[in-house]
Amino acid sequence: MDARATSPVTRRAPVRSAENPAFEREAMASGQFITLEGGEGAGKSTMLAFIETWLRDHGHRVLVTREPGGTELGERVRELLLHRHELEISPETEALLMFAARAEHLQRVIRPALHAGTTVVCDRFTDATYAYQGGGRGVARERIAALEQWVQGELRPDLTLLLDVPVALGLGRAGNRSQPDRFEREQQGFFERVRACYLERAVLEPGRFKVIDASRPPVEVQSQLARALHEAVHGEKV
Ligand SMILES: Nc1ncnc2c1ncn2[C@@H]1O[C@H](COP(=O)(O)OP(=O)(O)OP(=O)(O)O)[C@@H](O)[C@H]1O
Ligand SMILES: [Mg+2]
Repeated sequence: MDARATSPVTRRAPVRSAENPAFEREAMASGQFITLEGGEGAGKSTMLAFIETWLRDHGHRVLVTREPGGTELGERVRELLLHRHELEISPETEALLMFAARAEHLQRVIRPALHAGTTVVCDRFTDATYAYQGGGRGVARERIAALEQWVQGELRPDLTLLLDVPVALGLGRAGNRSQPDRFEREQQGFFERVRACYLERAVLEPGRFKVIDASRPPVEVQSQLARALHEAVHGEKV
C-alpha cells in the first residue's frame, strides 16, 4: 500500500465529482494543519522558526500563527486572558473567549489558508483548551467538545506536535523569560493536570499526536521534530 495514503499530513487531492459530496469539505481543507502544543516553557515559540524552515525546505507554503491570537480580535482576547491580572474571569468564560477568538481565527485566517493549499502551523490550538480550561480549571470535557464541534465542524489538526517537559523544568525556563502571565501564576498542581491531560490526549489519538521530549537541548528537540515531520509528511520512519 502507498504509505502516504495513511500519513496524517499527506492527503490525496479530492476528486471533483457530483457524486462526491465530500468534495467541498475536502477542498476546504486541502492544506495541512499542524499544531504545536505543550505546557509553559516547553519551547513551542522557540521551535516555530525551525518547523517553518523545515516545511519550506520540503516545498510547503507556510503560514505561522498562534492562539489565542492570530487576528486583531484574537490578539485583544489574548491580552485580556493573559495580561489583565486585575480581571476575574470564570473558567467557563475563559473557554468561551478562547473559542470566540478561535472562530474568528478559523474564519479569517486558518480556513482561507488551508483552502489555498497553504500549510498552517499554529502555536497552540484546541488541545490547549482541553488541557488548560478542561484539565487545569475543571471545565467539563463535554462542554469543550460541544464548542469544538460548533466552531470547527469536522476540522481537526492533521498533525499535533506535543512538546512534553516536566512541569518544574518548563516553569524554570518560562520564569527566566518575562513577567508571568495569568496562567503562569497558577500553582504546580494546575500545570501537572495540564500536562497529564495533554499526554492522555496523545494516547487517545496516536495517529495525530507526536510526543517530543522537550527536556532535551534545543538541537536534540529539533532532530526529534525533523523526524516527526518527516514521518508525518512522507509516511515513513527515518
Ligand atoms: N530545548 C530547550 N532547552 C533549553 N531551553 C529552551 C529549550 N527550548 C526553549 N528554551 C528556552 O526556554 C524559554 C521558553 O521557551 P518558549 O518561549 O519557546 O516556550 P513556550 O513553549 O512557547 O512557552 P509558553 O507556553 O509560555 O508560550 C526560552 O527562554 C527559550 O529560549
Ligand atoms: Mg510561547
